[in-house]
Amino acid sequence: MSKLLDISNLQTGFDTEGGLVRAVDGVSFSVEKGKTLGIVGESGCGKSVTAMSIVQLLPQPAGKILGGHITFKGRELVGASTEVMQDVRGDEIGVIFQEPMTALNPVQRVGKQVAEMLMLHKKDLKKQEALTQSIELLKEVGIPAPEKRIMEYPHQLSGGMRQRVVIAIALACRPDLLIADEPTTALDVTVQAQILELLEKLQREHDMGVIMITHDLGVIAESCDDVVVMYAGRIVEKAPVRELFANPQHAYTKGLLSSIPRLENERKTQLETIPGQVASIQQFVDGCRFCQRMNRNTPERPEFKEIASGHWVEACSKCYEGGSI
Ligand SMILES: Nc1ncnc2c1ncn2[C@@H]1O[C@H](COP(=O)(O)OP(=O)(O)OP(=O)(O)O)[C@@H](O)[C@H]1O
Ligand SMILES: [Mg+2]
Repeated sequence: MSKLLDISNLQTGFDTEGGLVRAVDGVSFSVEKGKTLGIVGESGCGKSVTAMSIVQLLPQPAGKILGGHITFKGRELVGASTEVMQDVRGDEIGVIFQEPMTALNPVQRVGKQVAEMLMLHKKDLKKQEALTQSIELLKEVGIPAPEKRIMEYPHQLSGGMRQRVVIAIALACRPDLLIADEPTTALDVTVQAQILELLEKLQREHDMGVIMITHDLGVIAESCDDVVVMYAGRIVEKAPVRELFANPQHAYTKGLLSSIPRLENERKTQLETIPGQVASIQQFVDGCRFCQRMNRNTPERPEFKEIASGHWVEACSKCYEGGSI
């Protein structure tokens, strides 16, 4: 299997009034062609910052990559020039951002937005030809009557249709890697299922690697081959999806899994079963951060250990070996 993307020891931080904060602290994973890697974890644990680091779209001037390597198709992206990154984005890596509403220009017809993306990456493409290709793309992502839709503005489309346009733009240049940051969070459940199916179909047809970022373990179970569990800027567990669900090892992963709402239980908010809260980013300790949440003190950063083939866990003596919450 060929490695498309390899991230090793990524560190990303922000300059703030209170000093430098590290939102991503030593994250490593890789994505293979045709495979989907899921990133899951509670709000604020660094999922989007990891994604933005890969395509170098961190909020400026505060955000910066402080260390580590991002190797894409054998090329180092950390330190790559703005020009190189512009070519990579869209051409080789497509991104669907977390906010579908902000991804589109509200005052521009959707056809024009898709066509502009195509023209940006194929410099000799004529306007009319780009529009024709846009119609094809919109058809491909399941938009009915695309020749009419291209003349409409984003607000004239439903949420599901808008997200399809965002996907069409992300896929316009047939990227090798697609980063989908909460692509279905804003949509209702049936539309969510349609969008996930669509992404899978397009992935199969184009043999794309996909990074699927979500806080929804249902989405992970449905669509991922491998999963990375992030907690407070670090990976606490990484495994093939079946292995993670069947044999979770880290106390945080166990907590996430047991917090999935079940039909037989009374309705409750997600993740309710994990007590405490993630510490604020300024207060992150060097030692085990899940212990920090549990008011336990482990001064040393736990080793990230491969405990079975492809199954890695942050081996804190309290959160891993027999550890529970
Ligand atoms: N521009 C910024 N300046 C300072 N800190 C930031 C900035 N952007 C993000 N952060 C911090 O980085 C951390 C990680 O944020 P990130 O957006 O990656 O979380 P996330 O896992 O994607 O959460 P969610 O599930 O809510 O999308 C958070 O603590 C956040 O406060
Ligand atoms: Mg996010």
